[in-house]
Amino acid sequence: MFDSGLGGLSVWRAVTRELPEWPVTYLADQAYVPYGSKSREQLIERSLRIGHFLHEQGASLLVVACNTATSAAVDTMRKELPIPIVAIEPAVKPAARASRTGRIAVLATEFMLQSARFHSLLQRHAGTVEVLPRPGRGWVELVEAGRIDGDEAREKVAAVVEPLLAENVDHIVLGCTHYPFLAPLIRDIVGPDVVLDDPAEGSARRAADLLAGKAPQKPNGYRFYTTADTAPMSDVLPVLIGHPYPVQHAGI
Ligand code: DGL
Repeated sequence: MFDSGLGGLSVWRAVTRELPEWPVTYLADQAYVPYGSKSREQLIERSLRIGHFLHEQGASLLVVACNTATSAAVDTMRKELPIPIVAIEPAVKPAARASRTGRIAVLATEFMLQSARFHSLLQRHAGTVEVLPRPGRGWVELVEAGRIDGDEAREKVAAVVEPLLAENVDHIVLGCTHYPFLAPLIRDIVGPDVVLDDPAEGSARRAADLLAGKAPQKPNGYRFYTTADTAPMSDVLPVLIGHPYPVQHAGI
């Protein structure tokens, strides 16, 4: 699995729950985080490089735990890499289907919200539902630093989410894998009646379907790589997934 950084750990949680027998290698491309401000060409280049690296490490399936990388690079990855690829995209379809107010918000990176893939997703699945796209400004940086509660996080989350209260949205789609780590703060602001849609479970189930009938070659084990310094990721892992793990550097 990979992401620009640590946000994809929200998908890692779902994948390791769904596939407890399987060894999982997670790569955080922290030398290039945030992906939301990169060009399409850069995202394709990074995604292919990482895909080849993980394939060489023995991966039999690749989960792109990043909406932004999916929107830029998944078609090219599917052509260039010899293993099945599970992508992730904002849960617009289930949110639009379930909406009673006819208004939903999609929170994602600027890149994602401007991508052709996102516009096609809206065309195919929003129907008559009105979609309010909103970037979570500064949220990726909060999660990367493990600052997912406290005053700074609360203020940055409120700046995006509070204005939505007046908009009569009944679903907020978390269209960036970093954002589920801020879900408790979002929930505090919107109250119990607004649904937060996170597509991680769907991607995990898709991975399980593709691996059905296959047995893991190695015993269970979790490996973590970062393309940047290892210390910050080591420090933040327990905050995000409740457990420390050794982190290795990937010089790619
Ligand atoms: N976690 C990523 C996503 O799902 C990208 C965040 C970023 O690096 O901008 O879109």
